[in-house]
Amino acid sequence: MSHAPNTATGSSRRNFLRQVGVTGGAGAMLATMGALGLAPTAEAASREAAFRAPTESDFNLKGKGRGAKVVIVGGGIAGLTSAYELGKAGYDCTVLEARDRTGGRNFTVRGGDSTQDLYGNRQTARFSDGQYMNAGPARIPQWMITMDYCRELGVPVEVFTNSNASAYIYNEKAGMTEAVRYRTAKADTYGYVSELLAKATNLGALDADLTTDDKAKLLSFLESFGDIGKELKYTGSEHRGFTVDPGAAGTPGTELGSVPSASEVFASGVGRYFSFEFGYDQAMLMFQPVGGMDRIPAALTKAVGSRKIHTGAVVQQITDKAHGVTVTYKQDGRTRAIDADYCIAALPPHILAKTAHNLGSAVQTALEAVKPVSSGKIGLEYRNRWWETDHRIYGGITETDMDLSHIWYPSYGFHGKRGLIIGYYNTGTNADTYALLSPAEREARAVAQGVKIHGEQYRTELATSFSHHWRQTPHLEGAWHSMSGGPDAATYAPLNKAAGRVYFAGDYLSYADAWQHGAFSSARKVVTTLHERVLA
Ligand code: FAD
Ligand code: ALA
Repeated sequence: MSHAPNTATGSSRRNFLRQVGVTGGAGAMLATMGALGLAPTAEAASREAAFRAPTESDFNLKGKGRGAKVVIVGGGIAGLTSAYELGKAGYDCTVLEARDRTGGRNFTVRGGDSTQDLYGNRQTARFSDGQYMNAGPARIPQWMITMDYCRELGVPVEVFTNSNASAYIYNEKAGMTEAVRYRTAKADTYGYVSELLAKATNLGALDADLTTDDKAKLLSFLESFGDIGKELKYTGSEHRGFTVDPGAAGTPGTELGSVPSASEVFASGVGRYFSFEFGYDQAMLMFQPVGGMDRIPAALTKAVGSRKIHTGAVVQQITDKAHGVTVTYKQDGRTRAIDADYCIAALPPHILAKTAHNLGSAVQTALEAVKPVSSGKIGLEYRNRWWETDHRIYGGITETDMDLSHIWYPSYGFHGKRGLIIGYYNTGTNADTYALLSPAEREARAVAQGVKIHGEQYRTELATSFSHHWRQTPHLEGAWHSMSGGPDAATYAPLNKAAGRVYFAGDYLSYADAWQHGAFSSARKVVTTLHERVLA
């Protein structure tokens, strides 16, 4: 758009932009805005470059008046977002959701909530008022567009503690006999790694890679990183923590003793957890909606309008026709059908693969190639917050090589009376092992393992529990997906475009599977493509 006038002002500038938006789509609109000097900051522009929500004025300009009719199958994040964004442009959307609530995998469990899994286990949560468990999504990185939707929808957020130096690591299989604090494990690992690297540097092992000046700078870095002193030897450090904390004059504190050998530190396997916090999607700061992750689908549901959303509507068949789509569904024991101009299939791919459709064998092959992954969580509500008072742990995660995998301390309700720990968050065969147990047996197994880290209060202070397994959840049957080669692999190509008048959306069709960001991004892509087609 190099010919774009860069001096346009006022309404002529707005009209110009609107025309570009209609004829050139969102990309052209943004490029033009950039040329006019109206584009947001480079960072914000890259976040938004792929998306401009369709607007009502697009239709008015085309003289259509009313939007096309779209039926959306699945009221998870992708389905709700599709309805929300298309609704802004006056599309006539209907969402069909099989479960009795919207949100899909975004499921927050509070006292009174009931579930029945596919193995027949029935549970009703007995959590106290104010206590909740995010059974699915629980954390949001700052860069994800999930944060943008929270802002736009007025969902307040607060910090989620994803890493905490005071949390523990306990690798029983590696021979550890007691849990070690993260800070201690890091101090020992970084200390010995620094000492060894310093030694190698001084012995000339890096001479081919580093100049004399580089080596001096590396040694200076290692000295502070590993706290190895001028002697370049790790003998323990205040980074490990204290048995008596520093206090008033006369109380300098007592550093934690019993420094293990380098061999013991490496054998314990504690280092395997450290790269987690460097991950682009797991690095602090992380956030959570205040009051539970389901505040997001609740806000989307409100914005879409609940009369446009049918819950308890289990889609049975999707039929693509020359001039429209017919979707058949079962609700309250009756079979109904809905006709629309377009359909967005935002249900899990492995469920769609079991649903009748005429979308072709390539679509079916692609759907069957997406494999669901198992995951489960248990919420343990305690009568008091002993992890804060006795262990000085305020949020964060303890890592173990036991089959509970992760223990999460709550990032809400600090210093409150009660609190809720995630007593296991596991995946794959560990999750399947727990899923096969009754809820009472799951609790007993998780608590027996937690006692090894936290002592008997882990058992004695427990008030109630609730467990949830995604592979065994009706209408979802999976936590996230395994897709060989990623969403752009040739196998999945039929799902990345429309099959006739049917589009596909969901986190699995993104580079952020297992993140709401993926579901939001996929929905944005589909509504943009659909809208461009309608306008063409
Ligand atoms: P879904 O939520 O699966 O929605 C599909 C919908 O289709 C469901 O509502 C389902 O009931 C419905 N449906 C199924 N069959 C039919 C039918 N026949 N007719 C009508 N409707 C049907 N994301 C984060 O951002 N942060 C996290 O920390 C995080 N952690 C997670 C932890 C766990 C354990 C899990 C399971 C997920 C986690 N996620 C996280 C991922 C996040 O939950 C998903 O990316 C997102 O919710 C997916 O939304 P979706 O709309 O693509 O799919
Ligand atoms: N994205 C999911 C999580 O962070 C899997 O737990």
